[in-house]
Amino acid sequence: MKYFIDTANMDEIKEIHQWGVLSGVTTNPSLVAKEKDISFHDRLVEICELVGGPVSGEVIALDAEGMIEEGRELAKLHEHIIVKIPMTEDGMKAVKVLSEEGIKTNVTLIFNTVQALTAARAGATYVSPFIGRLDDIGLDGLQLIEDIAAIFAIHEIDTEIIAASIRNAGHMHGAAVRGADIATIPYKVIKTLTQHPLTDKGIEQFLNDWNNK
Ligand code: E4P
Repeated sequence: MKYFIDTANMDEIKEIHQWGVLSGVTTNPSLVAKEKDISFHDRLVEICELVGGPVSGEVIALDAEGMIEEGRELAKLHEHIIVKIPMTEDGMKAVKVLSEEGIKTNVTLIFNTVQALTAARAGATYVSPFIGRLDDIGLDGLQLIEDIAAIFAIHEIDTEIIAASIRNAGHMHGAAVRGADIATIPYKVIKTLTQHPLTDKGIEQFLNDWNNK
């Protein structure tokens, strides 16, 4: 499972990029809105240049024509741009057209297996099932990852699964063992991924022993 970071914040991306674990970045309109006084397009280009891997930028239009137009504009910005499209009927029309033009897409707001299969059949490069938001309403987000991975394997579908709406390291473990290709992870969760109390205890003990030798 590869790691993407789910943010539009340059400081967060730069910091985690230094760890060497980042393969890409996802943004969404809410994350971009948190960044004050930026140009969305300029920020996407800046992220692409730094990370050198797939960077998802979401369209705002809800009609197919508008999504296609925005998608083409976004794709022109940089070779690493992935056009993020919501899972709707118009979204599927846009994915079909954009994928036929060689533009990569990430279909977002996926909450069941048939949405994922439909997006894949329309030509999506990636699908983004939202684990945390399903858990929030008492459903099992990780089961969805397992089911989509099984369906894609049975039917030899090469659309990649991005486990999204990750809330904690447990989601990371669960998505990895269930076959997600990628997890897109908020900065706060990435910062927990090196941590274990026995690691801290071990470091303390090693230093104590070294200093008392
Ligand atoms: C995915 O690409 C989304 O940006 C993201 O994972 C949404 O997560 P949230 O439920 O924490 O907003």
